[in-house]
Amino acid sequence: MYYLCPLMKDSQFFVFNNSPEWVETYRAQRSAPSNIALVKYWGKEDPQIPKNPSVSFTLDQCRTHTQVNFQKQNKHEEVPFEIYFDGVPKPEFKPKLQSFFKRILPYVSYLSEYNLHIETHNTFPHSSGIASSASAMAALAACIMDLEMQLDPSQSLDYSLQKTSFLARLGSGSAARSVQGPIVGWGQHPKTPKSSDLYGVTIDNTHAAFNNYCVAILLVDQGQKAVSSTLGHCLMEGHPFASQRFDQARDHYAQLIDILSQGDLERFIKLVEKEALCLHAMMLTSDPQFVLMKPNTLQILQSVWEYRKNTGNLVAFTLDAGANVHLLYPDNIRKAVQSFIESELTPFCQNGAFIHDRVGVGLKKM
Ligand code: DP6
Repeated sequence: MYYLCPLMKDSQFFVFNNSPEWVETYRAQRSAPSNIALVKYWGKEDPQIPKNPSVSFTLDQCRTHTQVNFQKQNKHEEVPFEIYFDGVPKPEFKPKLQSFFKRILPYVSYLSEYNLHIETHNTFPHSSGIASSASAMAALAACIMDLEMQLDPSQSLDYSLQKTSFLARLGSGSAARSVQGPIVGWGQHPKTPKSSDLYGVTIDNTHAAFNNYCVAILLVDQGQKAVSSTLGHCLMEGHPFASQRFDQARDHYAQLIDILSQGDLERFIKLVEKEALCLHAMMLTSDPQFVLMKPNTLQILQSVWEYRKNTGNLVAFTLDAGANVHLLYPDNIRKAVQSFIESELTPFCQNGAFIHDRVGVGLKKM
């Protein structure tokens, strides 16, 4: 007798098995934002199931714009496609997309009857070191779901958003959190009853203190990422502190949900900075080990601590798997923090580069 594990059973919910109202051609145009994790996802198992739940701020301005032209054709084993980035063909992007299509095909079988011409563009500089896989996979998943909506117009918007996040996750875990906003959780946790390992959900009932929260990205190192996130997640397999880290992240998730509803910014800062440093602690203690912070990253962290002590302005930092620093601060101190960045932190940024952004709502039609 063959039993599906509960997760696989839940995934069945996303299998498309209606009779499609075929369209010959369709053009989808979507833009999806990047996101920055507050509680980090670091460690996963097949198929893209996180070892711990994570929470992120959805960004507003840092986005991927994607257009897909779907052309009906005879059924293929694989999904035929071509991909252009900034108008230039990108064969080097193909292997990642091929495995994405292979993973999602059981849920979107109609895709094997279309040829896809994909054009994509990021609003942030390609060399900025900002992870673009989250926004790219979310935008592509949204284009596919727009086609699905044509083939089956009876679908609800809620289902469509949930399935967009489900498909995006199969391309890149953090992409599950780039579909909606302003604050999204991904990964099952009792604090968020509707949460799931399969897709992201919005965190509701957050305090007004988190409305319009600002995010500045300080570009310390604009090169290619030293550790791909796929390799990074693998480093947690057999890591001596893995189970402590996953427990800690679950505990941080619970604390963060309380902080977000209470609006306690001092606790928010403490927790978010601890998470960022624990993520790097995992990389420092893995085999092989990675030191992804640069001297200028540490200079910025030190300056932020001093600035906070001297001014009382509640600005926090967080890091992803690289040298860049994200600053998080409420809108009411935006001007002060921005002049602090411009006068004291730009010397630590490569070519003085930084990006001002804020929390946003998620997917947009273009
Ligand atoms: C450090 O989502 O890029 O940014 O699922 O392998 O594509 P894959 O990994 P990815 O990992 C993101 C890691 C992180 C933390 C986070 O965003 O939660």
